Amino acid sequence: MNERTLIIIKPDGMQRRLAGEIIGRFEKKGLKIVAAKFLQIGLELAKKHYAVHKGKDFFDGAVKYISSGPVLVMVLEGEKVIEITRKMMGATFGYNAEPGTIRGDFGTSQTFNLIHGSDSPETAKYEIGLYFKPDEILDYQMPDQKWV
Ligand code: TYD
Ligand code: MG
Repeated sequence: MNERTLIIIKPDGMQRRLAGEIIGRFEKKGLKIVAAKFLQIGLELAKKHYAVHKGKDFFDGAVKYISSGPVLVMVLEGEKVIEITRKMMGATFGYNAEPGTIRGDFGTSQTFNLIHGSDSPETAKYEIGLYFKPDEILDYQMPDQKWV
């Protein structure tokens, strides 16, 4: 079964012009984009997005940050895509994310960490539903699918 994940290039990723770099890494890895949207997340949607963290001390800051500027929201699809993209993102805080990962290569911050990616099939389903209608997620094949 093909898995899906929600990826967001957060406001700092867009402001720092790292969208192409980040998408390029996913493309070169052989992952497939099946939906994409450029928008600024409103406060209400941001609160839903981070609902699992409600009550934690960083909740308000995380909500404010992700809604602070335009973001690129994508759905990626493929076998083990959640595990793969989480590994490629790196640990949550830039200062302890491994070199070679997106967060490890481009930031040091605890708050501004460039990218969001779903952490389980259940959260992926919930998060994709916040941003996309079913008919906005496209079903198509790529010619190198059997190789990657
Ligand atoms: P979390 O879901 O734990 O991290 P990840 O993005 O790796 O899945 O946290 C959500 C966001 O909240 C995280 O990207 C950055 C922010 N955050 C803080 O600002 N301080 C913290 O202590 C934590 C854990 C997260
Ligand atoms: Mg998370």
